[in-house]
Amino acid sequence: MNLSSSKPKLLIVEDDPDLRTQMKWALAQDYEIFLAEDRGGALEIVKREKTPVVTLDLGLPPHPGGTEEGFLCLSEIIEQDGLVKVVVITGQGERENALKSVGQGAYDFFSKPIQVDELKVVLNRAFYLSNLEREHRELRRRISEESFEDMLGTSTEMQEVFTPIRKVATTDASVLITGESGTGKELVARAIHRRSSRKGGPFVVINCGAIPENLLESELFGHEKGSFTGAHIQRKGRIESANGGTLFLDEIGELPLLLQVKILRFLQEQKVERIGGREEILVDTRVLAATNMDLKQAIREGRFREDLYYRIGVVVVDLPPLRKREGDVLLLANALLQRYASENKKKISGFTQQALRALEAHNWPGNVRELENRVRRAVIMAEGSKIAPEDLELVSSFKRYEGHGLREAREALERDFIQRAISKNKGNITHVAAELGISRPTLYELMEKLGIEKDRG
Ligand SMILES: Nc1ncnc2c1ncn2[C@@H]1O[C@H](COP(=O)(O)OP(=O)(O)OP(=O)(O)O)[C@@H](O)[C@H]1O
Ligand SMILES: [Mg+2]
Repeated sequence: MNLSSSKPKLLIVEDDPDLRTQMKWALAQDYEIFLAEDRGGALEIVKREKTPVVTLDLGLPPHPGGTEEGFLCLSEIIEQDGLVKVVVITGQGERENALKSVGQGAYDFFSKPIQVDELKVVLNRAFYLSNLEREHRELRRRISEESFEDMLGTSTEMQEVFTPIRKVATTDASVLITGESGTGKELVARAIHRRSSRKGGPFVVINCGAIPENLLESELFGHEKGSFTGAHIQRKGRIESANGGTLFLDEIGELPLLLQVKILRFLQEQKVERIGGREEILVDTRVLAATNMDLKQAIREGRFREDLYYRIGVVVVDLPPLRKREGDVLLLANALLQRYASENKKKISGFTQQALRALEAHNWPGNVRELENRVRRAVIMAEGSKIAPEDLELVSSFKRYEGHGLREAREALERDFIQRAISKNKGNITHVAAELGISRPTLYELMEKLGIEKDRG
């Protein structure tokens, strides 16, 4: 067994053989020593051994009298690994060089003749700092680059979302998760459940927008046998089914007003009454809710109860749209590419330059779900080893309008723009006009001219 390998690695770059040996002897007890006599050798060792600390003599061959070679070596080492601590060893009275080397990124300098004890102090501090920095870098990498639960995101926008999720998960507070379609609201709800003390209990989803109004009450609260036509057997509602766990009320903005009252009461009293039932049942269910609707607007329009809003939104997690997450599109695209390529057993190594640019330029109205769909499709369609913009159906706008005259191209662009805004704003003309920066009458005029129908957005 090589005991020395547990010592920190130190590289000594020194062309004078006597001095080299002398330093080695003096320091071998504390460090695992590597020796180099020129720039090439030094760089090779830094690359191979990842030595965190290096002592560097500036006068190296082929110009042992000058400092050129030493400075070159310094910058190459730092370029190789920015966290390497280089202690420059200078001749006596070379203050200028010493300062210059620190200016170029050296950690510290030391003048000959070498006092071993002093040098050891400098080196110890260099190793200590290097460790700290590496730990810090590793921590940052783990926090940001890897995923949080199933969620990828290195952007500050997403990091700012992860923090409240971590904090709120372990409590029993209700959480309102908002964000455009496809931004990951359900993913967040599942993450909160998984990180809570309720993780052993059920996670029950109910999509308030997908269940017909007349069935929704019974779905949520359950019913007794014979309580209404068709109620042949007694049935528990989803609130009750989620007992001991979490209920995820998806699209809570679609909840009819009457049921909003009932849900509010449940949140206040933790009790439910089945339809046609006579007793109140105590239920221990945590409620998470999501919406892509502007609930404040809905409150102003009388479609959503303000008291429920404040009860459910004790904590609000607002997911930013993908286009606002700096750097995340490419991170997600690459992760998804790897996943789908291995699922489909296809050898695809990445995206072409044009595809990367197209991914960054796209506006992502459908957010992460749209990205998933485009990459999944591209993996299936791709013929080469790299994904092209055509595979993603993201052909640059220039190509799309090629072959048109200027007027037609402009109209086509206007049509695309308006249609996209209409679908993004779910047909709300006031919002569309505001987004496009034009008045409503102008918008109507344009739609008429371009033959766009509102509900076909
Ligand atoms: N940060 C992320 N990292 C990885 N995958 C994500 C991320 N956010 C969302 N996804 C994926 O994108 C898809 C859409 O996410 P999800 O269903 O949670 O969105 P949503 O906001 O609930 O959408 P909708 O409003 O349409 O219901 C899912 O397949 C999810 O796994
Ligand atoms: Mg959803």
